[in-house]
Amino acid sequence: MAIFKQLFDEATSTFTYLIADEQTRSALLIDPVHEQYDRDRRMLDELELTLKYVLETHVHADHITGGGRLRHELGAQFIVGKGTGLDCADRLIADGETVTMDGITLQAISTPGHTDGCTSYLWNDRLFTGDTILINACGRTDFQQGSPENLYRSIHRLLSLPEETLIYPGHDYTGHRVSCVAQEKAISPYVFGLDLAAFAEKMQNLNLPKPRRIDVAVPANTHCGGADVARAAGETEAPATKVC
Ligand SMILES: [Fe+2]
Repeated sequence: MAIFKQLFDEATSTFTYLIADEQTRSALLIDPVHEQYDRDRRMLDELELTLKYVLETHVHADHITGGGRLRHELGAQFIVGKGTGLDCADRLIADGETVTMDGITLQAISTPGHTDGCTSYLWNDRLFTGDTILINACGRTDFQQGSPENLYRSIHRLLSLPEETLIYPGHDYTGHRVSCVAQEKAISPYVFGLDLAAFAEKMQNLNLPKPRRIDVAVPANTHCGGADVARAAGETEAPATKVC
């Protein structure tokens, strides 16, 4: 049996996911947030879990990853998509490769578009999409090598998975928690009825504000959220409006 938890950072509307093996107590976290280190550490301690891996869906622009400090303090391995090219990572995971932890296996799916190195992770019938698919939305494509064409292809590749596949996104700004492939195909305004040209035009006209912490978060995350970089970042607040 596995332990599964969805955690939420209010300040940046970021989801973090915990997956652990109930028997061996080995655990992994997907997309931890630096400011939530104490929460995550407490949870691991309370559940008597040993953190083995931190999996990143991409180099985030809105928050600093908690992976740097978790790796430093707990010895977890930092894993991120090969397309990021981050030489600070313990492992760059390529499309189709897997992370195996006792009886738990996650498959990496390379999903460029929001950024070049975006990676989604499939665990049985649960898909962790980062910012490639948000519920009724998707990540923006106007910075960090963003490409509407690549994102369109990545979204539709993920939506070719079985209809009942559950979608757990990297963020939500409107109170949603989980969706599924069938629902996103049927009602997402970024999917339903949009061909590539219409999608690209929509993405080019979003006119979203620049993420307030991008100039701090991207350099820190490019160094795998190194603890020193993160401590120097200072700011802890971020707007709860859509910035990703
Ligand atoms: Fe992002």
